[in-house]
Amino acid sequence: MKTHGIHHISMISRHGQEVIDFYSGLLGLKLVKKTLNFDNPNQYHITFGTNEAELGSLLTFFPHPKAKPGIQGDGQVRTITLAVPENSFKFWQNRLTKFEVSYSIIRKFNQNYLTFKDLDGIEIELLETNEGKPNIFEFNGVTKEVAVKGIYNVVLNASNPKTEDFLKAIGYQFEQESSLYKRYKLETSDVLGRYIEIYKPGEDQGNNSIGTVHHLALTVLEKEIEAWDKKIRALGLLPSEIKDRKYFRSMYFKEFSNILIELATEKPGMTEDESVSELGTNFLIPPHFKNLPKETFDHLMPLEVKEVTKLTKYDYIDMESYKSSHRHRDILNEINLLARKAKTEGLTEAELERRAILRKEYVASVTGGVRNMVEKVKLVDEEGNEEEGFIKKGKVVETWN
Ligand SMILES: [Fe+2]
Repeated sequence: MKTHGIHHISMISRHGQEVIDFYSGLLGLKLVKKTLNFDNPNQYHITFGTNEAELGSLLTFFPHPKAKPGIQGDGQVRTITLAVPENSFKFWQNRLTKFEVSYSIIRKFNQNYLTFKDLDGIEIELLETNEGKPNIFEFNGVTKEVAVKGIYNVVLNASNPKTEDFLKAIGYQFEQESSLYKRYKLETSDVLGRYIEIYKPGEDQGNNSIGTVHHLALTVLEKEIEAWDKKIRALGLLPSEIKDRKYFRSMYFKEFSNILIELATEKPGMTEDESVSELGTNFLIPPHFKNLPKETFDHLMPLEVKEVTKLTKYDYIDMESYKSSHRHRDILNEINLLARKAKTEGLTEAELERRAILRKEYVASVTGGVRNMVEKVKLVDEEGNEEEGFIKKGKVVETWN
């Protein structure tokens, strides 16, 4: 009995919208599921993947805007390697540059890897490979010729040598090593996600919070999940009960280096409640939370897949600050509209009154808690000169996007 490659990888991140901008807007992955943390109805769980949301392509995130940054280190997945088509590096280098994401090229096992970090510090590598089928999902300038095909490999920070015994017990075999990495390969699988590497120098103990990988899920067959419970116990590890995660069944346990592992079944999959074309377009409340009052979910900030040309650090961290920042933006938009009309055809008495009200509201919204956003706002007078301070008589140009 063996595992069948990487099923998904789950991470803790700060801001859901930043995650969407990075993994969909920049990397071109499809948002394939928007649901809740199955153990916490106050928290989103968002998943990205290929067009069909195949196993081995799924990157999932628990946004936690008010949590502290975590510490990357021992007992965690250190790096996630994503497979991209051959001859796509030039595209990805240009794209990362355009989005102002710094990257480097490292050489490992005679292959080049493009390595960079997401906004929370999670390390991603891209590897050109002909393995894995093309991903036909196209978004925001990422075409199927260059699109991410899935997860190729993970690198572990695993200080306990018994982690290697664990890998062998679940079907992996030693393949090769360098001064920094020891690579294991799953021999029985022809899918992506069949490599696991151990980072040999090791690191100090990590702490799971923002910017760290929460767990690594490996695929097992639905018909074997009960047998896996016995096998994991026989290894001296302590698995959780088998949980119904709607899209699969799974169990969790910490392996010998304390990395949280999930064994997840291949069925029924992410298309259980949405067709391929619908994937990610609905907010899906897990069945066991459906009877909770609607207000339970009112505090969840809206999330939007959108075409972006740069990455933004969002200031709002809850519904109150979200509403405040959006009210602020709406006021600025209306002030700009009136300013344009004032310049071209003049304002009516009613519009002059409206402008006066809006200016007061603008000042109130800034002093009411979004003061830091003022730094992003340019005030420009009617001759086009930038002003200091608040609106005097000129138009306001706001620089959100
Ligand atoms: Fe999971």
